[in-house]
Amino acid sequence: MRTHYCTELTEEDIGKEVVLCGWANSYRDHGGVVFIDLRDKSGIIQLVCDPADDEKAHKVATEVRDEYVLIAKGKVRLRGEGLENPRLKTGKIEVVVNDLTIENRSEPTPFVIGDENVNEEIRLKYRYLDLRTQKAYETFRLRSKAAIAARNFLDANGFLEVETPILTKSTPEGARDYLVPSRLYPGEFFALPQSPQLFKQLLMVAGFDRYFQLAKCFRDEDLRADRQPEFTQIDVEMSFCDDEEVMNVAEGLIKAIFAACGINIQTPFKRMSYKEAMETYGSDKPDLRYDLKLVDVIDVFENTELKVFRDIAQFKKLNRIKALCVPGGEKLTRKEIDSLTDYVAKFGAKGLAWVKVKENRELQGPIVKFLSDEEKAAILEKTGANTGDIIFFGAGSKKTVLDYMGRLRNRIAEILGLIDNDRYEFVWVVDFPMFEIEEGHVKVKALHHPFTMPKNIDTEDIEEIKSVAYDVVVNGVELGGGSIRIHKPEIQEKVFEILGIGEEEAKEKFGFLLEALKFGAPPHGGFAIGFDRLIMLLTKKESIRDVIAFPKTQKAQCLLTNAPSPVDPEQLKELHLRIREPKKA
Ligand code: AMO
Ligand code: AMP
Repeated sequence: MRTHYCTELTEEDIGKEVVLCGWANSYRDHGGVVFIDLRDKSGIIQLVCDPADDEKAHKVATEVRDEYVLIAKGKVRLRGEGLENPRLKTGKIEVVVNDLTIENRSEPTPFVIGDENVNEEIRLKYRYLDLRTQKAYETFRLRSKAAIAARNFLDANGFLEVETPILTKSTPEGARDYLVPSRLYPGEFFALPQSPQLFKQLLMVAGFDRYFQLAKCFRDEDLRADRQPEFTQIDVEMSFCDDEEVMNVAEGLIKAIFAACGINIQTPFKRMSYKEAMETYGSDKPDLRYDLKLVDVIDVFENTELKVFRDIAQFKKLNRIKALCVPGGEKLTRKEIDSLTDYVAKFGAKGLAWVKVKENRELQGPIVKFLSDEEKAAILEKTGANTGDIIFFGAGSKKTVLDYMGRLRNRIAEILGLIDNDRYEFVWVVDFPMFEIEEGHVKVKALHHPFTMPKNIDTEDIEEIKSVAYDVVVNGVELGGGSIRIHKPEIQEKVFEILGIGEEEAKEKFGFLLEALKFGAPPHGGFAIGFDRLIMLLTKKESIRDVIAFPKTQKAQCLLTNAPSPVDPEQLKELHLRIREPKKA
């Protein structure tokens, strides 16, 4: 129907007859002349409907209201002197309408299109209106470009796109499954895949050599800003490769996607061991855009008069005392320090000691009176602190201290404005422990999944066994991860043994994979990149919901369709299900 999109028109089109289609973004009746801002996916242009130009078109224009669907024919002209609108790309021109059709009317919308201060529930309920802006369109245009760039890169590198089942069996990615009841098999269920992990391994056994998929994954877990119950991965697997080759492909892929979005990034990415990430940044997904580091100072406090610290320093394997020196942090007020103390307390901190470094590197703060001269000197030396800095101390059990000091690091960077939002700092976190011993020391879990290749399976202390796994982290977000897989049945059995997965259980849960490994499985490995998170980073959005066309809420609901929702008793009967009323609170 149209000859142009609104913002395709420029001064070069002056005098041209054009047909434009779109929505009335706004209208103004100026003493007989009606001005309409017409919007399509490209943006906005001004229509002028003057009775002196065309009486009929003007009459139609007087009936136009917000969000009416319009088809306008007219001639492009320069706006008069002083009438330009610098906020519009088309602000120097307008279209004088000689034929206007109202193709459809709109009820008053529940919010003004493009208003960013509307609460998210209403926006998600009317998501199609929320998406009706050029800004939203641009996000999804970028998402589409990124997907195409990924496909092109992988295709050019010999990867085959293969779809794997959605109705399947539980996959061990560590979250709760979404289940689908079977009508034909009473009491039995499909699970929606948490990832295509096992199928992609089977494709390697099939000899496909290089696989990829833009795969939908489903995980019933606690949601956060960067987590959705249903999300997309760029999922990749390859054969006869080592971890270096896999990381190389992942870097090439990420670089190609960024390039398609106009951003040049440097490869290869930095590498960091899991241990270093945890000990120095207090996180397995360190944000390296700023240079704050945690320093081990437990040795300093072995004989200190500060009793809490001395007690903690007696158990160096289980405990940590970490210092965080913040350059220029002396300017933090007492109130700000107190609020940081409250913040870390939420994550289990028993306190947050601090010292300020004054003139002549003189220390000041509530714990200083307990410190000997040697202790003071050692603190300054280990942290490299200078006049004007503040040093925070976290002391307690290893896991808790690393966690809250890592969070403190991020929080301070935010407060002091140390984060450069235009930077992308990539890092591979490697050398993960293979196993994780749960709190209480009764259960061993796989840190990645149980098909990850161990490096040194015969090591006595299972906490020292490392896996051939790698996570790619950018700006403190876990963007993706993967591993080399176990392809030999005897290693797989050993791992199951350590995990306490018995033969029966293994057979019942992953029997098909274990069987496949017996028929000549090649060495293989791969990775998956969280595609939504990638787009979130590329578009600098705060929430993953902003880059998913129809997302679920934080409470895992779709407000647009009202899902989940009750079903007919008839359907339940067919599925052999009966609902037990939830207990009233
Ligand atoms: P993993 O579980 O680490 O690995 O997932 C890979 C990446 O997927 C993204 N991701 C999510 N994105 C949004 N919402 C979620 N709920 C969510 N969960 C994960 C993250 C994460 O880094 N099969 C393995 C990969 C492999 O070993 O090849 C896997 O799924 O960005
Ligand atoms: P107190 O003797 O309990 O008043 O503590 C003295 C200082 O040490 C205060 O600033 C506390 O916040 C801090 N503090 C106490 N326990 C810890 C801890 N486990 N880690 C870090 N700082 C602590």
